[in-house]
Amino acid sequence: MVRQRVRPGDPAPRGEIIGRVRMYELISAIAFGGRRRRVYGRVVALSGARPGDRVMDVGCSGGYLARLLAAAVTPGGQVTGVDPAAPAITYARRRAPGNCSFTVGTAQDLGVPDGSFDVVTSTLALHHIPEPERPAAFSEMYRVLRPGGRLLVADFRPSRRRLALHSGGHAMRHNDPDLIGDLATAAGFRLEGRGDLPLLRYFQAIRPAGGGA
Ligand SMILES: C[S@@+](CC[C@H](N)C(=O)[O-])C[C@H]1O[C@@H](n2cnc3c(N)ncnc32)[C@H](O)[C@@H]1O
Repeated sequence: MVRQRVRPGDPAPRGEIIGRVRMYELISAIAFGGRRRRVYGRVVALSGARPGDRVMDVGCSGGYLARLLAAAVTPGGQVTGVDPAAPAITYARRRAPGNCSFTVGTAQDLGVPDGSFDVVTSTLALHHIPEPERPAAFSEMYRVLRPGGRLLVADFRPSRRRLALHSGGHAMRHNDPDLIGDLATAAGFRLEGRGDLPLLRYFQAIRPAGGGA
């Protein structure tokens, strides 16, 4: 299938990466049932990205959201996509507009200087990060945002059917998108909003202007 689990001791940091990006693009288009462009357009709007902004998209896969963000920050803005799946980064680079770049990396170690971005986005990537490493991912997203910078994180919204199938189960508890709010505030973010889109639950947060490093 499209997932490849990286084991402890592998050169890449742990996490579940998606290497077959064409397959992922197809599955995503089907899952959103013709609404992918509209949903991700809403994600861009909700992120607050505007012309001139520097934006990082974490867990960017083939760069679908990054390309939409690149249009939103034009003129003058730049988008950087990060993903541990090298084939996804190659795919994204081939389709990148001039103000969009892509690097191999993980949310837990973004490898850029402090305060480099005005906006950080991450969609459908959090549940791929091992649970004990999620606080580190939020600390990194906080670190790379400038004070006053904005965060938009979204993950799968639990459907009633999935909740019924897994009620009380370990997997549901640990992939509960509502944990995003707790992780963000623990990292120092101030929560600004949350809501639902088709398939997604999103959280908006700000790195407070007076917040610590
Ligand atoms: C379901 S895809 C989501 C892609 C895209 N953001 C979207 O909304 O369609 C999840 C992505 O997270 C990436 N990923 C896995 N572990 C990660 C990590 N530790 N840090 C950042 N991204 C990770 C995978 O390689 C994959 O490309």
